[in-house]
Amino acid sequence: MKNLNPEKLTLATRLTQLGRSTQDQRGFVNCPVYRGSTVVFNSVEDLEHSRAEFAYGTLGTPTIKNLEDAWTELAGAAGTVMSPSGLGAVALALMTTLKAGDHLLMPDTVYRPTRSFCDLTLKKFGVTTTYYDPLVGEGIVNLLRPETTTLFLESPGSQTFEIQDVPLMTRIARERGIKTIIDNTWATPVFFQAHRHGCDLSVEAGTKYLSGHSDLLMGMVSANAETWRDLRATYDSMAMLPGAEDCFLALRGLRTLHIRLKEAETRALNIASWLAEQPEVKTILHPAFESCPGHHLWQRDFTGSTGLFSIILDPAYDKSAVTRMLDGLELFGMGYSWGGFESLIIPFNCRDYRTVTQWKEQGATLRLQIGLEDPQDLIADLRAGLDRLHGEE
Ligand SMILES: Cc1ncc(COP(=O)(O)O)c(C=O)c1O
Repeated sequence: MKNLNPEKLTLATRLTQLGRSTQDQRGFVNCPVYRGSTVVFNSVEDLEHSRAEFAYGTLGTPTIKNLEDAWTELAGAAGTVMSPSGLGAVALALMTTLKAGDHLLMPDTVYRPTRSFCDLTLKKFGVTTTYYDPLVGEGIVNLLRPETTTLFLESPGSQTFEIQDVPLMTRIARERGIKTIIDNTWATPVFFQAHRHGCDLSVEAGTKYLSGHSDLLMGMVSANAETWRDLRATYDSMAMLPGAEDCFLALRGLRTLHIRLKEAETRALNIASWLAEQPEVKTILHPAFESCPGHHLWQRDFTGSTGLFSIILDPAYDKSAVTRMLDGLELFGMGYSWGGFESLIIPFNCRDYRTVTQWKEQGATLRLQIGLEDPQDLIADLRAGLDRLHGEE
């Protein structure tokens, strides 16, 4: 930013300014894609003292640095590093705070591949994981061990959208010298300021809303001042970084992040409200709805909601009815990921893999990602789908 005081600017304005300098770009508005491994030094002395703004491709390029700096500012962090995927960012954060012999606390509702990373890879390196009920609140103290060094949070929880009491949990952890990591992919820093709510590290799958177009994979980890040095050192020791082109696209996505999120919020609320009135739908699992566990915490701590939520259908509809509903949808694609411009829907069964919470609902569960199609078109597609639950059309 020129001489602008970021404190005085609204988020929308800051997103147009962050991570670019027309001066450094010979007047061009955007930072180009810097590709490169080698950086040439001017003299032996410069080489010996690494005296250059950039020393080698794995340590950063102007494109990467612009993205890191912009995210740091947006997240209210001390620093950010990038990763080639959201899951990579989760792994990087965990490797920053954990070592052999440590104990880790993970919410039972965590993104399933994060669970696999703990159960396979961290276990192999001598880290023990205990899963906990995301709504445990103060009860987390009963699960702490002398060797607990990391408390992981994901709020809302994957697929079922439980909102956690982040300020409470981070306070409990901080008082005992335990590091906290949050997966903040759903809300992004636009709607939830993780560091301000006490988290040491905040992970974001840039694959979702930062990209916004389902055309790249990326992750970010931002850190508060006390954790930044460790995060950067862990990152530097592995140099797992995204490609130059993806960083350029992410910077481009940053410019419209705010308006896309606002639009996703409005459209998802619209569709979820409509679904709540359909007789085939039993429950809406959307943090902005009272029916969502932890809704009051969402009201207290978040400044908005995004385009991803779930529904529970009336238990009257069996698997073949739900298959009929989904197979016939014309606008909703069936696929993983979310945060893009297109609407998606997937059935899920969290009973299959959660270990400490019991999913008691009998009805089929569906997760919806609301894209930028006209909501009336989406409603028509869903209504026809719900009709198919009743029998062959
Ligand atoms: C909550 C959450 N965190 C992390 C990820 C991982 O992101 P990526 O697909 O970029 O590895 C996902 C992907 O769906 C996610 O839903």
